[in-house]
Amino acid sequence: MTTAEIFETMDYGPAPESASEAHAWLADRGGIAGPFIGGKWGPLRDDFASNNPATGEKLAGVTKTTAEEVEAAVKAARRAQSAWEKDHTKRARVLYAIARVMQKHSRLLATMETLDNGKPIREARDIDIPLAIRHFYYHAGLAQLLPTEMPGHSALGVCGQIIPWNFPLLMLAWKIAPALAAGNTVVLKPAEYTSLSAMVFAEICTEAGVPPGVVNIITGDGDTGAALVAADVDKIAFTGSTDVGRLIREQTAGTGKSLTLELGGKSPYIVFDDADIDSAIEGLVDAIWFNQGQVCCAGSRLLVQENIADDFHARLCARMATLRIGDPMDKCIDVGAIVDPVQHAAITRLVSASDGEIYHAPGPIPEGGCFYPPTLITGLHTASPLMQEEIFGPVLVSTTFRTPAEAVEVANNTRYGLAATLWTENVNLALDIAPKLVAGVVWVNATNLFDAAAPFGGVRESGFGREGGWEGLGAYLKSDAKLTAAKAIAVPEAPATSAVADLDRTAKMYIGGKQARPDGGYSTAHYSRKGVLLGHTGQGNRKDIRNAVEAARGAAKWSGSTGHLRAQILYYLAENLSARADEFADRIGTSIGTSHGKATAEVTATIDQLFTAAAWADKFDGSTKGVPLRGVALAMKEPVGIVGALAPDDAPLLASTTLLAAALAMGNRIVLAPSQAAPLVMTDLYQVLETSDVPAGVVNIVTGNHMDLAPTLAGHMEVDALWAFSPHVDPTALEKASANNLKRTWTNTGGNPDWTAPNLRPFLDAGTETKTIWIPYGE
Ligand code: NAI
Repeated sequence: MTTAEIFETMDYGPAPESASEAHAWLADRGGIAGPFIGGKWGPLRDDFASNNPATGEKLAGVTKTTAEEVEAAVKAARRAQSAWEKDHTKRARVLYAIARVMQKHSRLLATMETLDNGKPIREARDIDIPLAIRHFYYHAGLAQLLPTEMPGHSALGVCGQIIPWNFPLLMLAWKIAPALAAGNTVVLKPAEYTSLSAMVFAEICTEAGVPPGVVNIITGDGDTGAALVAADVDKIAFTGSTDVGRLIREQTAGTGKSLTLELGGKSPYIVFDDADIDSAIEGLVDAIWFNQGQVCCAGSRLLVQENIADDFHARLCARMATLRIGDPMDKCIDVGAIVDPVQHAAITRLVSASDGEIYHAPGPIPEGGCFYPPTLITGLHTASPLMQEEIFGPVLVSTTFRTPAEAVEVANNTRYGLAATLWTENVNLALDIAPKLVAGVVWVNATNLFDAAAPFGGVRESGFGREGGWEGLGAYLKSDAKLTAAKAIAVPEAPATSAVADLDRTAKMYIGGKQARPDGGYSTAHYSRKGVLLGHTGQGNRKDIRNAVEAARGAAKWSGSTGHLRAQILYYLAENLSARADEFADRIGTSIGTSHGKATAEVTATIDQLFTAAAWADKFDGSTKGVPLRGVALAMKEPVGIVGALAPDDAPLLASTTLLAAALAMGNRIVLAPSQAAPLVMTDLYQVLETSDVPAGVVNIVTGNHMDLAPTLAGHMEVDALWAFSPHVDPTALEKASANNLKRTWTNTGGNPDWTAPNLRPFLDAGTETKTIWIPYGE
C-alpha cells in the first residue's frame, strides 16, 4: 500500500524501524553473546539461544558463564578496583564519556533492546535508552562531587550485580552507574532472555575509555547468578523476583556482603471520583501496558471509587480497544511482545485460574509471536490470588472503594510496597493520602516517572535499598569508621555464699508501657564482681517477644507523630536520666565492674546521646530532587517501622540508649533486648521512661538470654528491621531468618561500632527509608 492509498483509506500503515544494524552487529561478532572479562570477550559458546519474542527467530547464541569463569571476572574486577577508586575526576570523565558514546549508538541500543526483549521500539527509543544515558550523565556529576559531599566514605570494592529482563539496558545503567561513580568495579549478569544490549554496552565501555576490568559482564542463567552471589564480591545488587531475592538474602547471610534488593510489587493505582478521568485513563495505559505490564512498579491493581467505577471501566475498555498490539519494531505499536514463551505461559496460567470477569482488548493479535492482549479483570475479592500476586504481564485487576480511608486500607493490603499512584484534583486529599501509602514511590496525578536523581526502591517484600540520587550512591559506599569485634563480658558466677545487697528484687519486662512478668516465670540472678547479689531479671521467651511486638504494633501512631514531639520526649528522657545520674553510674559500676569515673562518663555520654537524638528528631530532613520535569520529587524520610534490637554486652546504658534513641527519634517503635551481661542498667530505666511521657508500646524491653530471644525477633513477620550487636547470637542464622519478610538487618558480621562513643548518624540512616513522592505542577 502506498502512502497516498493509506491517506485515502485512513487504514493503518506500519512504520517499522530497521533491524539491519542490530543484526549486522551480531553477525560481525559471530552471533554469540558471552562474557566480557578484563576488557576482552570470551570464552564464547552457544549454550542457549536468545530469541526475538515477536517472531521466535534466534538472534544469537548465549554463553552460560561457568563458576570458574565468574571467579575470573571477579578477579579481573578486583585487580582493577584500587586504581579506579583513586581518582574521582577521572571516574567522572569516564562516566560522562559513556553517556556520550551511548548517545552516539542510541539507535543500535534501542533496536537491539526491542529485538531481544519485545518492547515497542517507541518505548526503547524514547524512554529506556534516554533514561539510561541520563543515568550516566547524572552519576558523572556524583563522582565529581563525592569527596567533598560525602567525606569519610570509600567504595565497597567489587560489586556483583544481577538484573532482570524487563529493562535490560536501563537496569544495567541503574546498577553500573552508581557503582562506578562510587569507585567500585563491577561484575554484572544480565538476564538469560536479554543479554544483547549489555554486549553493546561492553563495547561502549571500551570506546569510552573504561579501564579493563572495571566493567565485566557475564552472561548466563540462574546458575551463573548463583555463582556470582557465592563469589568473592563485596556487594550483591539484585533486581528481580521476590523469591530469588529472598534466596539471595539467605545465601549472603553472615558473609558481610552488602546487599540491596529491588523486588516485585503489586502496586495500587487509586482513582478518586474527582480525578481528571481522561488523564487517569491515559495514565493507566502507561501504568499497566507500558512494556506489556512487565514492570516491577506497574500499576497493576486499579482501585477506583465506587460511584465512578462503571463509567471508568466503560471508558477504560473503550481505550483498551484502541491499543494496537503487534510487531514491536513498528513505531506505531502500543503493545509489543511478552519476553519469552515461559513468561507468556505464566501469565496465561494465572489469568485462566481467575474467577473474575475477564475482558481482553479486542485488537487483532499477530500470529507466531509471544503476544498477550491487554486485559482487565473485575469482580475479584481483595484476597484473591490475582489481587495479591504479581502477574508481570499486561493484566490489570480492578476493585472499588468508597472512602479515602478504605482506599488506603485496600492499597496497603499487600505484602509488597514498591510504588503507588493516586489521581485526584483535590490537593488536600492527595497530600493526605500519599504519606499513608506503604510504598517506596508515590506518583500523584502521574505514573511510572523515573529519573536518575530520584531514589527508587521498595519497602516490605519489595526489598530494601534505594537506586538513584545520593541515596542510591550511598548504597555503594561504606563508612571509614573503624569497627571492632563484638566481645562478651564475663558474668560473675554465683558465689558459694552471697551477701544480699538489699531485698531480692526481680525486674520485670517492660511491654506496652507496663511492667510485665516474664511469661515463663523464670529469672536470672546477677552478681557484682565482689559476689554481691544485685538483683534478678526475667528470662524472656518467644511469647514475651511476641507480646512486645504486639505492643509496638499498637503504638503505630508514634510513627506519624511530629519530629518536634519526639524531640521533646527525648529531651525529657535526658533530663530525667540526668536527675538520677549517680544512681545509674553506681549500677553500671557494680554490674560490669568499671570505676565510678568511667561509669559516670558513660551516663554523661548517654545523656548527651539523648540530646543528640532529640536534636536530630526534627532535622533529619528529606530533600527535593532536581528531576527534569515541571514539578517536584520529594524524597521523604520515613521510619522503617518496628525495630528489633539486641544490644552488645559493653556500655550497657550507652549502647542500648543509642539504639533506642535513634529508633525513637526517627519515629520507630522498638523491641529491645538489653545487654545480656548487665541488663539491670536498662531495667532501671523503666521508671525514667514512665516519667518521660514515652507513649505505651513505643519502647519495649525484654530481658533474657539473647540466644532465646533473637530467633523470634528475626523471624517475626511484623518486625521491619533487626539490629543485632549482641556477642551471644549467630548473625548468620539471624540474617537467614530475617529473609522471611525481608527485614533490613544490621548485624555485627562486619564488626561493631565503637560503643564507648557511638556515632548516632548511621543509626538514623538505618532507622529511616526514603519515600519519593512525585508531584507534577499544574495542568
Ligand atoms: P528472576 O528473579 O528469576 O530473574 C532475575 C535475575 O536473577 C536473572 O538475571 C536471573 O538469571 C537471575 N537469577 C535467577 N535465579 C538466581 C539465583 N538463584 N541466584 C542468582 N541469580 C538468579 O525472574 P524471572 O524468572 O526472570 O521472572 C519471574 C518472575 O519474577 C516474573 O514473572 C516477575 O513476577 C518477577 N520479576 C520481577 C522483576 C522486577 O523488576 N521486580 C523483574 C523480573 C521478574
